[in-house]
Amino acid sequence: MNQANTHSRRTFAIISHPDAGKTTLTEKLLLTGGAIHLAGEVKARGQARRARSDWMKIEQQRGISVTSSVMTFERTGANGETITFNLLDTPGHEDFSEDTYRTLTAVDSAIMVIDAAKGIEPQTRKLFEVCRLRSVPIITFINKVDREGRDPFELIDEVADMLALDVVPMSWPAGMGGLFEGIWSLESHRLSQPEGEAKEYLGNAQAFDGLDDPELAETLSADALEKLQEEAGLAAEAYSDFDVEAYRAGDLTPVYFGSALKNFGVEELIEAIATHAPPPRPQPAEPTEIAPDGKDVTGFIFKVQANMDPQHRDRIAFMRLCSGTFKRGMKLTPSGHGKPIAVHSPIMFFAQDREIADTALPGDIIGIPNHGTLRVGDTLSEKNDVRITGLPNFAPEILRRVALKDPTKTKQLRKALDDLSEEGVIQVFYPEIGGQWIVGVVGQLQLDVLVSRLSAEYKVEAMLEAAPFETARWISGEDSVLDSFARISQANLAKDRDGNLVFLAKSTWDVGYQEERNPEIAFKATRER
Ligand code: G4P
Repeated sequence: MNQANTHSRRTFAIISHPDAGKTTLTEKLLLTGGAIHLAGEVKARGQARRARSDWMKIEQQRGISVTSSVMTFERTGANGETITFNLLDTPGHEDFSEDTYRTLTAVDSAIMVIDAAKGIEPQTRKLFEVCRLRSVPIITFINKVDREGRDPFELIDEVADMLALDVVPMSWPAGMGGLFEGIWSLESHRLSQPEGEAKEYLGNAQAFDGLDDPELAETLSADALEKLQEEAGLAAEAYSDFDVEAYRAGDLTPVYFGSALKNFGVEELIEAIATHAPPPRPQPAEPTEIAPDGKDVTGFIFKVQANMDPQHRDRIAFMRLCSGTFKRGMKLTPSGHGKPIAVHSPIMFFAQDREIADTALPGDIIGIPNHGTLRVGDTLSEKNDVRITGLPNFAPEILRRVALKDPTKTKQLRKALDDLSEEGVIQVFYPEIGGQWIVGVVGQLQLDVLVSRLSAEYKVEAMLEAAPFETARWISGEDSVLDSFARISQANLAKDRDGNLVFLAKSTWDVGYQEERNPEIAFKATRER
């Protein structure tokens, strides 16, 4: 494959705390980029659409997005080549962080949206930490400058201090809130200004010869200009120059100011992703990492979405392509069970007007319809000779016992729990002693989803009861060490769906206590799949 192909994709996500403006920014990126389509809209047809909309009830009731999708747009790059942007939507609600985390394993970079009045909020921080685990490069977007916000220096320094990143402002707000007069690009010396009644940016940025250009004095108010000159001067002294290598290594973040609502900064973000964000990166794998320009097709499943049609238990597995040129009809072998599957009807989200396209390149996402064969974490490859590593499972923060209203439904329950854990909706733990199964989730909402799906899809009426445990850790060590630990702690031991040993702890204090007492056992809060 030639380099132009592997270099033409920018696969990224937006991370933020709820309400910071991710949805608004997504819309504006798609509008500005002339989006091809919203994948979620296209996939569901006929019966599937009805089923899907039933399922969406929970989303509607809660006013949040439970499912995530892939959005694609294109533009022509500086050298005339076409750049395809794959924006993976990550559900922003706190309760769905696990799904969000997994989506972040499938991107090459991320935009971090921060509310200018609030700075870094807890969810932003959590998601940032996941990006850091994989050195995912971050572009920072400080949103809502059309409203009163905090001092730009304070905001930038908060990013630097809280996230331990080098920061480089790329643009600067000329005032905020009522005094907002536009965004000054520190890179290109262009000013984008509010226009019309809505005070939006309409695409008419003006270029100047720098902040001392006399024409700028005619464009901005004297106060705004003076402040901008002073602040931009200070910023130039206080922060280093942009260094693309440091950014791509995840050590430095360029910072853009803007207002998604009023369209400020959106063009700059697209430009930044096109110019600075990395094309498909090599993927950690065994026996060796996968280079994006490798000939053989490889990819991995980062998300499974079920219930497109409950009659048929259809699922769509989302595969991120890591290398090779995928062609429709190709046979790929999932690492999970080794039997090749022919991918006849891939859903390719970048396909301009078609749902089913013929080829996909590294960085693209393919939706593979299947009946439960494909699981989150599976590697798919042509020769079944490689396994992608580094996809984490997170320790659940809420554990519940599952109690059946009708005890004859045990078999159905087991199947349902296995299925849903495979999909990543919940984690399931089968205690070594006692018959009551335990489910683990990272957020309360997942429990509601679980109960409603058990009932709707598996006809199993279940109740969730308090479990005497608060958290779980995957444990590993020498067999003899684990055996003697098991003798003492059997009441706390369980197996996960894949048969891995798990310690169910009464509290995080208990975890610490056990770690101290059993230095030869590793207690892990995440498990690689
Ligand atoms: P989220 O996906 O990160 O949760 O945030 P979302 O885009 O839904 O934005 C949350 C709220 O912030 C929305 O207002 C949205 O209009 C507003 N917002 C987003 N970007 C900007 C911006 O640049 N400037 C200003 N002033 N507001 C912004 P809402 O009142 O909660 O919703 P709506 O009723 O306006 O849709």
